[in-house]
This record gives sequence, structure tokens and C-alpha cells, in this order.
Amino acid sequence: MKSLTLCSLRPLSLLLLAASLFSLTAASQPAPRPNPQLVSKDVNARVEALLRQMTLDEKVGQLAQFSAGFATGPGANNLRYDELAAKGQVGSLLSLVSAESTNHYQHLAVEKSRLHIPILFGMDVIHGHRTTFPVPLALAASWDPATIETVARMGAVEARADGIPWVFSPMVDIARDPRWGRIIESAGEDPYLGSAMARAWVKGYQQDDLSKPDSVAVSVKHFAAYGGAIAGRDYNAVDMGEITLRQVYLEPYRAAVEAGAATLMSSFNSINGIPASANPFTLTQILRKEWGFDGFVVSDWGAVAELRNHSIGDDATVARKALEAGVDMDMEGNLFGTVIAAQVRSGKIPEAVVDEAVRRILRVKFALGLFDHPYTAEGPAYDATPERRAAARKVAEETFVLLKNDPVEGVGALLPLTAKAKKVALIGPLADSQTEMLGAWAVTGDPKYAVTLKTALSERLGDRLLYAQGCDLLSGEDANVLKQASFTGQAVAGSKDMPIPDDQKTIAEAVETAKKADVAILALGESASWMEGEAASRATLGFTGAQQQLLEAVVATGKPVILVVLAGRPLELKWAAQHVPAILEAWSPGIEAGPALVRVLFGDVNPSGKLPASLPRAVGQEPLYYAQLPTGRPAHGDLGHLPRDPGERFMSRYMDEENSALYPFGWGLSYTRFSYSQPTISRPEVPMREIFASGHHPAATVGVEVKNTGGVAGTEVVQLYIRNTSASVEQPVRELKGFARVTLAPGESKHVEFPLGFDELSFYNAEIHRTVEATTYKIWVGGSSLATAETSLQVTE
Ligand code: NOJ
Repeated sequence: MKSLTLCSLRPLSLLLLAASLFSLTAASQPAPRPNPQLVSKDVNARVEALLRQMTLDEKVGQLAQFSAGFATGPGANNLRYDELAAKGQVGSLLSLVSAESTNHYQHLAVEKSRLHIPILFGMDVIHGHRTTFPVPLALAASWDPATIETVARMGAVEARADGIPWVFSPMVDIARDPRWGRIIESAGEDPYLGSAMARAWVKGYQQDDLSKPDSVAVSVKHFAAYGGAIAGRDYNAVDMGEITLRQVYLEPYRAAVEAGAATLMSSFNSINGIPASANPFTLTQILRKEWGFDGFVVSDWGAVAELRNHSIGDDATVARKALEAGVDMDMEGNLFGTVIAAQVRSGKIPEAVVDEAVRRILRVKFALGLFDHPYTAEGPAYDATPERRAAARKVAEETFVLLKNDPVEGVGALLPLTAKAKKVALIGPLADSQTEMLGAWAVTGDPKYAVTLKTALSERLGDRLLYAQGCDLLSGEDANVLKQASFTGQAVAGSKDMPIPDDQKTIAEAVETAKKADVAILALGESASWMEGEAASRATLGFTGAQQQLLEAVVATGKPVILVVLAGRPLELKWAAQHVPAILEAWSPGIEAGPALVRVLFGDVNPSGKLPASLPRAVGQEPLYYAQLPTGRPAHGDLGHLPRDPGERFMSRYMDEENSALYPFGWGLSYTRFSYSQPTISRPEVPMREIFASGHHPAATVGVEVKNTGGVAGTEVVQLYIRNTSASVEQPVRELKGFARVTLAPGESKHVEFPLGFDELSFYNAEIHRTVEATTYKIWVGGSSLATAETSLQVTE
């Protein structure tokens, strides 16, 4: 297999082709252009003029960020914020949540400090600000960039009203291991889907124009590869080859930078032995030189000071390493503030390095218009208006994934629910908890606005609804131990004295409730408020506490059961998949959880979500993802979706479990059915050079007819996968390279087209060049990563 590289050509051809080849390569991988939002003549001139007036202490002050509000990490204790602001020695404050509190510090900085440089206020606005939307993993299940933009837009508007022009979002870390609690904040396992979501977040927040009064600057996090933590344990080391790093893990950050991201956050983990917050390879070589990033990099919380724990030096050394590697601002670590200036004075750090970091930070402040409009109007308090609620509900409805809806004898499919179900039993610890509906990063979300499934169902069913909690989310001593470890490490009020729940009694009550009903809905999962998100890794992936026991007891009544799973990570649902006829994955749906669920359960809305991460059969399969690299001894075909052959030995498989996911990436059912035609390809063969020249334009197009063959309208996420069958570096057995949401009336069909060009077909070769080689691509189109409708494309020399 030859690739179109210089060494594969003879000297004469080389001469003849040189000019065109370089222009082709340049066209396909254009040199990065300056970010017009950050780099303009006007902004540059203002930055340089200001920089010339700054003392070293004032410059170093710009590199410091403190949490003047609540803590989102250990050890926030600098209480001199007034003094620092007035002296111009703080560049940014985080976690302040009101126009009043941000204005307080802004007045000090702008009116008291010598150079009147405004403070940049930052905040974890992750899935909405005041209005809590579903968690990011759920949002990715919509496969709908427009939905992400809606969420980002509303978050931006509400954040700005609270004085916050900078959000620590989106998290674009690829997450392939649900033991890692932060999978909830991600778009899941796939770089193509993750990149599409990353672009949408950036566009929604920044609107391609940071100077708009309702735009906020993003901080794309956590750079880099934080989601690759070994064994899914948070903050753990990452160890992976450069091809995987670039082709899988870095892609969504690259997409975000290309979309104009103003800032990035450097991560806690090390990458192949070098801590990410002192890593010149990722922070300077890749980010600045290759991608042309013009914004600034803030460290994650204390990540600069924590470099000491990575054993790469003392305070002065680690601060210098971080700064020189490309970290511009130190979040809540206070090392830049205390040890950089002395090293500049002693000549250890060139002042030009500090100047460059300050320049990058000032650029963002100017671009946001903070120098011209530093304050925020102090307006009326937030209210969950009907418009906000409607938006939150509509978004949530798009995120639910119908995993299973098998017919039950004598009843048919349980979903959508009909009037035939005269009495409905609602059971489970997540059926009526407002707090648990919000999700792990609803920092400013208020549970009082959340509507539970019980509230919404009782509105629909009145006294036809029966209810029993069934059990708590934890049982026995676990309940006391785990509940004390809330997100901030503070004890949950009263939890120490919490009575240990009597599960047997409450399960028996639930069983009696189920017996009185025609159908039982179980709302089970895990706690969004203290078992998901940061520092919430798990070694098991089952339901917590006595929930599994509760599920089995209710199923044993013989009543038909619908399981609604509320969790921010893929859980192990093997038993449920075998014994429960209908399963809806509902994640953490936000304030409109109940109304959105009811509308989907009753079929007012047809579910259309698709899994952004594979659901395992057993935790031991993790990390589990569809885009596996091939093995020399493949078991059950490429994707391992055929049943296990117990006689098969010496193959890459588990002795005691299937290789495949329980529900694979891209999976999701509907209340209608869709059929796919044989896909067509606009040209079966394309010369390699045309692909190099294609850049963002298609060299060939795949077309397919998708038809709604069922009885109700529905939306299908049409997905395109490819496999490069012969490359110099082995390629995944399948890779997503296109998707489209298509809404179809019953009987309606639509033609869907997917472009294929350099962006979709290229990969990193052993020399770490993104390239295309002569090969055949297998291409599948369908409704999940199991798609079977097939065509192919040949790339010729
Ligand atoms: C630590 C988290 O890792 C990061 O995602 C967050 O933005 C910062 N703390 C600030 O709260």
C-alpha cells in the first residue's frame, strides 16, 4: 500500500509534481489562520500599549486566578481578594454568581488599581446556568448540534446576567470508560461525534463574535486526554501512543480551536509521563504551533501546584515549567502569583515569557469588551419562566434513548403507554427526587425548579397513579459513608445521623404497590449529586444500594415493567435487558425531567436519542468502545456482535462474557421503524490526489434513502461508518464519519447524502502525518454502529 508521500515518488516525478503536490497538501491541511475574534489590529494595539505600562508585579497579577465564591476543589483559602483586586494583582476570579458580587470586585479593579484592568470572571456553566438542562452526555445522545447550541446560548445569556463572561465549558474529553465519573460531562466515546458537539458548544457560547453583550468566552477542557485515565480512576495518569492521542483524543479539542475557542484549560493528568499542565508538546507544539491557538490557557484547579506531586520539581521549578510549557493562568494555585516574579528578576525566566502570557489574557479581555463595559446591570432575580422551561423540556425529550421495547404477551409493546394501563405503579428512589434530576454539574441550578417524574405523572394520571419509593439509592452502612463524600468534600447535612434504611420493608411495600397496578414504571440509577462527575470514579457499574433487588422483586410479580434509567454514565444493565421488556435511558434530564419523560412515555414525543457511549454487559469489558483496532485473532467477526462460540479458543475474547456491548454506540429505538436502501456512491473510485485536494469538500458522496415504515412520525439519526481495509497503520474496524437527523412522517422517505473527503478519510501514519493512501473503504449506513447497508469506495494511486 503506497501513500502519496515524497519518498514514494521517483526524482523526475517528484520535480513534476512538487509544485502541485505542495499546493494539494496545503489545500487539504491549511496553515492555521489567526482567530479574528482575538487577533485584530485594534486589539493588538490596545494590548501592546497596556503591556508597555505594566510593572512586573502587575503582569504576574494577570496570571493569577482565585475562587472568591464556592470551592470546586481542595484548599481555596486566599481571603485577600479585595486587596488583590484593588492592587491589580488578580487577573480572574471564579465561582462568583451574581451581578452584585462580580461588580463589587470589578469596581475595585477598575477604579482602584493603577491601570484599571478589569477582572475576568469565570464559572462552571456546564449544562445550563440557572436553567438546568440535561447533562452533556445526555445532550450528546441527541446527536443534534442545534440542540447543543440552544443550551449554550441560554447558558451564556443567564451567565452574563450574573456577571460571568467566561465559562469552563465545553468538556470535550473523549470518555471510553464509564468507571470515570466525568464521562457525564463528555460527549462520550467517539471523536467524530465529540468534534461535532465541541464545535456546536463553541458556536453557541461565542456566536463567532465575543464582543456581543450576550456572548461568553469558552474554556475547552481538559487539555489533554484527561478522559484516558488509566482504569477510569479520576486524575490518574494517561499512557497512550501518539497516533491514538492525535486521532482519537485530540480531535475534539482541535475542532473547538478551529471553531474559535478563546481559552483552554490544562488538565490534571500526565500524558506518557509528562504532566499535561507542564507539557510543551501538547501546550505549545500542538496547540500553538500546529493549531495556531491565539487564546490563553488556564490551568485546572491547583494543577500547577499539584505538579509537585508529579515529582517534577519544587514550587519554583514547577511554576516555571508550567509557564514555559504554555499555561498562562494559574487557577486557585497561587504559585504563579508567588514564585514567578522572583525568577524573572533573577533571570531564570525571560520576562518575554510572562509578557506573552499576559498578552494572551489581555487579548481575551479586550475581545470580550470588558475594558469598555466592565460592569453588569443588577437586575431582577432569575425565574424559571415558561419559555425557559419549554426549552429545557424540548431538549430533554431529544436526549432519551429507547434501549428496548419488546412486545409483552397479551399486551404488545409497553411503550408508548396507552389508556389500557388503567393503574400505573411508579417505583424507585429516583421517581420523586428533585435534587437528583439536576445532574452533577448543575452548580447554580436550583432543585426547587425541578419537576420529578412522580409530579408529572400524577398530573397526567391523577389517582390512577400509585407510588412507592421501594428503597434508597444506597443501603446499609454505605449510605452513611458515601453520602458524606459530597462533591465538595463537605458532609451532606444530617447524613451522619441518617437512619439506615430498612430495604426489605420498603421493597415489600413496593411489591404490593406493583401488584395493584397494570404496569410498573421503575425509576432507578445512581445519585447524580454525589456519585457522578468529578472525583466520582466507580469500580462497579450496577445499580447502587438495594435497587437491583427491588427491580427483581417487582419483575417477579409478573406485572409488565418499564425501566427508566437515570444515570450520568453507562450502567451495567444485563439483568434488566434479559428480564425487563422496556428500557428507557434517561440520564440526568434537568429541571423538566418529569414532563419530558411523561411526554415520551406516553408517545406525545417519539424518542430519537442514540447512545454516545457503549453500554457494557460487564464492568470487566471496560474500556469498551465500538471503534476497536483489529486483532490478529478476531473473535465473532470484526465487531464481535455474533454470539460467543464456547468452543472457540486462542481468539481475542472473554471466556465468561461476550465481547460486544449490551447496547452499542449509536443505538436507540423509536416508536416507529425505519428502513434503509442500498447506499450508493457518487464515484466508486477516486484518485488519491483528489482526496488530498478536497480539504473540507467532498471527493465522493454517499447517498441513501431512509423510509419511515411504521405508523407514527419519527426522527432517525442516520449514521455513516467507514473502515479503511488496507493502510500502513491499522485502522479501527469501524469509524463514524457522518450523521444526520431526519424527521419522517409515516410512509415518508428522504434521500440523505454524506460527503467523503480528506477530513473523513485521512489518518495519521507512522511518521505522524495526516494522510490518505490507496485503499478500499468499506462504508455502512444505518441507525447504529451495527449498520449493515453497505457500499465501498476505492482510492486509487
Ligand atoms: C476542577 C474541574 O476539573 C474543572 O472541570 C472545573 O472547571 C474547575 N475545577 C473549576 O471549577
